[in-house]
Amino acid sequence: MVDIKNTRKAPFSENIRLREDGKAVVILDQTMLPSGTVYAQLKTPEEMYEAISSLKVRGAPAIGIFAAYCMYVTGAETAGQNPPGDEFLERLEKHGEYLKSSRPTAVNLSWAVDRMLKKAAEEIKRGSGPSQAAEALREEAFQIHREDIAMCRKISQHGLSLIKDGDGILTHCNAGPLATSQYGTALGPILLGKEMGMEFHVFADETRPLLQGARLTAYELQKAGVDVTLICDNMASLVMKNGWVQACFVGCDRIAANGDTANKIGTSGVAVLAAYYGIPFYVLGPTSTIDLSCSSGKDIPIEVRDGAEIKELFYERPSALPEVKCYNPAFDVTDSSLITAIVTEKGICRPPFEASIRSQLRGGA
Ligand code: MRU
Repeated sequence: MVDIKNTRKAPFSENIRLREDGKAVVILDQTMLPSGTVYAQLKTPEEMYEAISSLKVRGAPAIGIFAAYCMYVTGAETAGQNPPGDEFLERLEKHGEYLKSSRPTAVNLSWAVDRMLKKAAEEIKRGSGPSQAAEALREEAFQIHREDIAMCRKISQHGLSLIKDGDGILTHCNAGPLATSQYGTALGPILLGKEMGMEFHVFADETRPLLQGARLTAYELQKAGVDVTLICDNMASLVMKNGWVQACFVGCDRIAANGDTANKIGTSGVAVLAAYYGIPFYVLGPTSTIDLSCSSGKDIPIEVRDGAEIKELFYERPSALPEVKCYNPAFDVTDSSLITAIVTEKGICRPPFEASIRSQLRGGA
């Protein structure tokens, strides 16, 4: 693992925070980037749901952190009405279920909500009132956020050990600081390496249809002074064939027990290309993204979004006839056989993933 004692703090660590009075969650609205830096304040369950489903806040770990703060805000609101403990828990659970239904694929959302619900239940069980339980929720949300920062640093260190100065790296979608709390996962090693004086050449897939690669990844890397080149998704094969890519780094939304990994639509295509050209394909993400209840990628629910995102969203005029059918899955699953290694905060898992993932979750490297 690379030593990072002397590096400075990465940028954009303030993209999600609890408002000082604890009555709203403040986020940097990612749908407005790169042209506008706009902060949104989410107070009601409906606003919170919408912020996730419209991708104002996006990226699996960021959604988890956001959900944790949302559970605190709604929990404190409910506690203010002085309900009995069991009613407090029931209402919190209802909020949690509603929030979870905003997006189905990234498991970090339900992971964070369930962790907050467990905390509240423990507090009530040991005799605390709703107000005390809400205080515990606030601390738990801060803890989830702190853990995410530590996770990003560790993943960055492990990931950096897989590449060398001067390498070309291809990435898909956005798994940078905006999608987490600091450094990011897939972009973490690149940003950390930059801080340590290394230079990488990054090819950022534009990532149709919502353009997270163009709007967010290219933005983050450009601002950090990293050499980044934006390409359309269908250009990845060419840059690989040209010998410009030494490794692919991507994030993840859910990793099944056998290593199959759901990530932004198009990721599996990048993995197929990387295998063809003999380029290592690395998935980087926290252990909270591993879902052992999914034995393989077949069990991972895939979000399907409105076809208007394909035909209209980023065009001055629609790109297709209104009556043309669209199929718009937001994620795909990369078969574990195409993955060289999975990098988590605990270390680097290599095939066979069934064994290495379980061993890492038990505490081994
Ligand atoms: O639809 P999005 O933008 O939320 O999809 C995000 C991704 O696919 C990311 O790669 C993933 O969540 C990892 S973020 C560290």
